[in-house]
Amino acid sequence: MSDPNKISETANEACSLLLFDKSEYASRRASLMEKIPDGAAIILGAASPLGYAEFVQNNDMMYFSGVEIPNASMIIDGKTKTSTLFFTITDRSARNEGINLKLVHNTVDITGIETVLPIDQFTPTLSRLANSGYVFYTSFKPEELARECSAEKFRFLQNATTLNIWDGRLIRELQFVKNLRERFPSVTVRDASPFIWGLRSIKSPAEIAHLRRVGQLSVEAHKAMMKATRVGVPEYEMAAAFEYACKKVGARDVAYNTIISSAENHPYLHYYRYDRILKTGDFIVVDAGAKLNNYVVDISASYPADGKFTPRQREIYEVAYAIQEACKKVYRPGIEAKEIQIQVKEILKNEGFDIEKDLFKIPTMQTGLSHNVGMAVHDVSPGLRGPLRPGMVFACDIYAVFPDEDLGVRVEDTVVITENGCENLTAGLPRTIEEIEEFMKNND
Ligand code: GLY
Ligand code: MN
Repeated sequence: MSDPNKISETANEACSLLLFDKSEYASRRASLMEKIPDGAAIILGAASPLGYAEFVQNNDMMYFSGVEIPNASMIIDGKTKTSTLFFTITDRSARNEGINLKLVHNTVDITGIETVLPIDQFTPTLSRLANSGYVFYTSFKPEELARECSAEKFRFLQNATTLNIWDGRLIRELQFVKNLRERFPSVTVRDASPFIWGLRSIKSPAEIAHLRRVGQLSVEAHKAMMKATRVGVPEYEMAAAFEYACKKVGARDVAYNTIISSAENHPYLHYYRYDRILKTGDFIVVDAGAKLNNYVVDISASYPADGKFTPRQREIYEVAYAIQEACKKVYRPGIEAKEIQIQVKEILKNEGFDIEKDLFKIPTMQTGLSHNVGMAVHDVSPGLRGPLRPGMVFACDIYAVFPDEDLGVRVEDTVVITENGCENLTAGLPRTIEEIEEFMKNND
């Protein structure tokens, strides 16, 4: 009889190692080290989940280590320019999590992280650094787990717990800061999130290549959802078609709860109850993306349930689509929102649109500049207010709602700023009215 405690190495071969080459993670750590020459950054990995939820590493730990091991932590030393990863896991637990045992046993070789120690060495290491005059940098902002976005999570937890007089708990990260300050009163503890957010907001060529893959997978899933759309179909069937298309090619999750708005639900931009059955005359806004290996994209599309635009749907959609196309033409390094707006209007005028019409005055139909996208759908960033820079990945999002008409429109793609313009990472959907009507002509 085979020993149930013996872990099969061969069965483990298929489990993945790192998403990117180890040099990618080393260069991320090196960039952070440059920002903290007087100290060390402490990255807390995600804890094992309760119950039967699947373990998801948080985005910061994934970003700097590439390692999806529960209950790990890492110290990135800005003085010695080396890093240490701390974890303790049994082979059985590792296999249970789908972790390749090579990663557990040859961590230094595989990850390029200089030192790997058991987790019980974390506290003594912190003490040694504290006694050597190190400043400690750690994120004061919440970790991002599945479908979470740090900035929103922070606001939510502040209101729901920290500022709730019947609760009052600190978020995990701020409790850690408090613990550090109590244990090492002479150490200065600073927020690392501005540095981390700055680094994460500019994507490397490897990240962009991966995001392009996530983009194409998501476009195909949108097309599958569009093919499943017709009068009489419940919205949940559309959402299921999207999710199935993502998962059948190996995506682990969707980027966020797929959003489907139609009729009276248009004003609610994150509507996800899927409680309508599509009717003739309905115009649908779907906002959905896949998540593949910790990266996501954000795409919205708008189309009629019966595949045929009414004159009013056509009027609104043509304008939203033309503005979004114009935005993608003017995005380039150095350009700012004000100039984008001017140049977009110029393009539309030259295309024969009457830009004095109300549709062109709606604030969300101007520049398309929305949130960053990357490891989270509303990815961390120092903001999009400044000039665009190569490597910025963000949602180019044009939308408007018309509650009196039970109507809404959204045209959204995930784009990256290149050396001299922009690339649409989610290109390939039927987008013109003609393309949409043709695509939906013979729907299932
Ligand atoms: N895709 C969801 C959002 O951007 O809010
Ligand atoms: Mn978005």
